[in-house]
Amino acid sequence: MRRKIVAGNWKMNTTPAEGKALIADVLAKVGEVPAGVELIVSTPFTHLIPAAEQLANSGVALAAQNCANHESGAYTGEVAPAMVAATGATYVILGHSERREYYGETDALLLEKTKLALKHNLAPIFCIGEKLEERESNIHFDVVKTQIEAVVCQLSSEELAKVVLAYEPVWAIGTGKTATSAQAQEMHAFIRSVLAAKFGKQAEEVAILYGGSCKPSNANEIFAQPDVDGGLIGGASLVAADFIAIAKSF
Ligand code: G3P
Repeated sequence: MRRKIVAGNWKMNTTPAEGKALIADVLAKVGEVPAGVELIVSTPFTHLIPAAEQLANSGVALAAQNCANHESGAYTGEVAPAMVAATGATYVILGHSERREYYGETDALLLEKTKLALKHNLAPIFCIGEKLEERESNIHFDVVKTQIEAVVCQLSSEELAKVVLAYEPVWAIGTGKTATSAQAQEMHAFIRSVLAAKFGKQAEEVAILYGGSCKPSNANEIFAQPDVDGGLIGGASLVAADFIAIAKSF
C-alpha cells in the first residue's frame, strides 16, 4: 500500500506570526483528516524552528523549500542541509520549477542537493514537470524522463525509499489551469515506468504527488487516479480549511 501524502508548499508567503496562526488553524482541523493520510507543511526558512515546535507530536511533518548543495562555507545566503535538519524539518522540497526557472537550478545541481539532503536525513520532495511549450511540442514525456534520470535514477534503492516525487506541470502552477485527471494519471504512470526501468518493483512503492492548481473542487478526481498518491499544494495550502479539505479528498 503506497503512502498518501498532502503537502502544503507555502512558497514565499506569511510572516512568522502569520505562519503560526495558519499552523494553528491546520492543527485545529487535522482531526478531520482520514487515517493514513500524511500531512506536510513547507514554510519559509524563517519559520522552521517555531513551526517544528508547534507541530511537535501533531503527526504533521515539516519541510523546507530548499537547501544548499554544500555542507558549510562561504555561500552567502544559503542554508545547508544540516542546518535545515537541525530545525526539526524532516523533508525538503527540491527541483521546484520556480527554482529551476528563476534561480537556474540545473539537474546536476539538484543531484548534489538531493544527495546531500539524504545524507542529512532530509527526505526530498523532488519536483518534476514540463512547461506549456514543451507539452504543446509533445516533448513533455522526454522532459520529465530526463529530469528523473538525471537525479532520481542516480540514487540507490535505499535512497529512493526516502524520496517523494511531485509531478507539477509548470503550466498548471498558480494558473488555475489544472491538469485533467487523465493527464495527471498518464504522466504519473509514465513516471512510475521510468522508475521501474531502473528500480524494478520498488517503483510501485514510490509516492508520486500531483501539484498545479490542486483545489478542494478537483482534488477528489485527481487523487482517485491509480498512480496519484496525493498532492503538493501551493495557494490552497495558505487557507487551512482548503488544505484540510484537499487532504480529505482521497
Ligand atoms: O509546489 C506546489 C505548487 O507549485 C502548486 O501551486 O498554487 O498551483 O497549487 P498551486
